[in-house]
Amino acid sequence: MATEEHKYLADIIKATHATLREEAQKYGPEIAWERHIACKDILQKYASSMQKLATTYWEENNSTSIKATLCRVQWVKSQCEKYFLNGGLQKYNEREEDIKKKMNIDFVQTDDCVNNVLQSSNFVDTTQKITLLDVGSCYNPFVTLTIFDVTAIDLNSIPGQVLRCDFLNVKVGKEKRFSADKQELLQLPKDSYNVVVFSLFLEYLPCPKQRYICCEKAYDILQSGGILFIISPDSKHVGANAKLIKSWRYVLSKLGFMRIKYEKLKHIHCLIFRKCISKQVAVRWADMQTTAKNDPLYQDDVAFFIPQDFRNTSCEDIHEEKEIYSSVEKTCMFNELPFDQT
Ligand SMILES: C[S@@+](CC[C@H](N)C(=O)[O-])C[C@H]1O[C@@H](n2cnc3c(N)ncnc32)[C@H](O)[C@@H]1O
Repeated sequence: MATEEHKYLADIIKATHATLREEAQKYGPEIAWERHIACKDILQKYASSMQKLATTYWEENNSTSIKATLCRVQWVKSQCEKYFLNGGLQKYNEREEDIKKKMNIDFVQTDDCVNNVLQSSNFVDTTQKITLLDVGSCYNPFVTLTIFDVTAIDLNSIPGQVLRCDFLNVKVGKEKRFSADKQELLQLPKDSYNVVVFSLFLEYLPCPKQRYICCEKAYDILQSGGILFIISPDSKHVGANAKLIKSWRYVLSKLGFMRIKYEKLKHIHCLIFRKCISKQVAVRWADMQTTAKNDPLYQDDVAFFIPQDFRNTSCEDIHEEKEIYSSVEKTCMFNELPFDQT
């Protein structure tokens, strides 16, 4: 049974998503986005509701319905330990070398990222922290994990914990740049992070191109060999959105990412993509997907689709959606978020 408070918080989340989608249809995604980020009170209300939902209601559900160790933050931590501290990085460096040999790629790198390749030996000394950029962090759920040196960013800042930063529009340059009051991140450093996390983040963006731009930016700021986590809400069975999930792999391969892990937990898809040292190694997988060429999902190289993109979202439907939200009690985790609207 969901409590009154649970429903109230869920309604704030759902209404924020519904309004953004509605405005994206009405004014186009760019204008809708500008209007959205100007509404500071709504962003603030969303953040506090999300924090309460995630730390009170979802965590409670989590401990009873699936093991706590499987929740998204713990999943990211355990995968990072495997990758950075227990041989994963080395394994995938070697796998890339093998593929390069098969492809007869010359070992000479043409770009400057050769200086920023992650060396597995960097992490033998476990006192070195893994640098992690948490995009759409909301309330900095990684803050207590000491293996990470976390940069938490969100549209809404929390002084001392989360920096204000619109990842969609933030610049990427040589170094980090802050606003005068140090509350806002104005520029992110290129080729610098070990890990970028998109946890329940991409679904927030109303259009496929905006999601693509964020993936491209993650690529730019990761070190070669660094990894991108994509955690997406979906309570359906593993096969229900398999085609879409495969299309993510295709789009990200074209960008230079190799998918190294996919797990469907009860309410979330968990994926890890590695920024390849040699982009050709990643692109090779996409080029081998012959069936993809005729599928509409693969016609636009700069789009990252989620199920909500294929739903009819006329104003009437959105109104109906809001009505359903307020009248139907849904107890499933994450059903507040766009991907999970069934
Ligand atoms: C559903 S919450 C996810 C919170 C958290 N990552 C988690 O896993 O619980 C999505 C968050 O993404 C943030 N967000 C959306 N677009 C953003 C952008 N362009 N830049 C930074 N944060 C963004 C929202 O403000 C919101 O707090």
